[in-house]
Amino acid sequence: MTSVGQLEKRIILISLAFAMTLFALATLAVNLYHVGLPTCLTDIKPFQKGELITHSPTHYELHYVARMWKFEPEEVTVPAGSTVDIYLSTRDVTHGLILLGTNLNLMAVPGVVNYARVKFDQPRVYQLLCHEFCGTGHERMAANLRVVDPATFRPQPSEPTAPKQVDPVYQLLDAKECLTCHSIDGQEGIGPTLKGIYGRKEKMADGATITVDDAYLREAIVNPDAKIVDGFDDLMPKPELTKEEVDEIIEYLKTLK
Ligand code: CUA
Repeated sequence: MTSVGQLEKRIILISLAFAMTLFALATLAVNLYHVGLPTCLTDIKPFQKGELITHSPTHYELHYVARMWKFEPEEVTVPAGSTVDIYLSTRDVTHGLILLGTNLNLMAVPGVVNYARVKFDQPRVYQLLCHEFCGTGHERMAANLRVVDPATFRPQPSEPTAPKQVDPVYQLLDAKECLTCHSIDGQEGIGPTLKGIYGRKEKMADGATITVDDAYLREAIVNPDAKIVDGFDDLMPKPELTKEEVDEIIEYLKTLK
């Protein structure tokens, strides 16, 4: 039979007090200073978009952004003899990147930027594949990295940057991450494009055809799984929006002709 001595009691009390202080401080940090785990790609500059940055004719920095379901950029060309610093991040779920024919293998984890340096000696077309099951479009996730003869290499002109959208509703859609899945320029995405959505005839998964009007849009925004457009998955989360914001979004969508 052992009994807890005075000293042990004191140590247990001090430990308890210490643990409670730590817990209180952690709670304070989370609530007061919004300290938390990184969860969003857009927090990490400058790895928010896919791009090739030229440091010198033989040294490149390549930022890959993985997303459902592609890699950005999808086509990259560098000259043989180059050293390429590859950074990988994801816009949504966990993906993986394997560069076939090399030992390059990185995970794309939300909130994390992973890195590897590769030297490409010989001209060759490498294929990039996603190796983490990431949803229904997983097997479509592929991209090319072309290593070409330095004699034939032409640096790609950097993409013209799209004019900055300053419309406050556009900014709201962007902030709520609607634009991750719905394009406004007609591009295919995880959800239907918003371009020309108002008045469009849309076939639903249950076979019915509807005409997009105010009532449909309101329901589609507030209660996304009520009706699903044919050919798309029921993936959209319920957004946190006020009634006024929903009204503004509907008015904005009418302008996307
Ligand atoms: Cu991304 Cu599989």
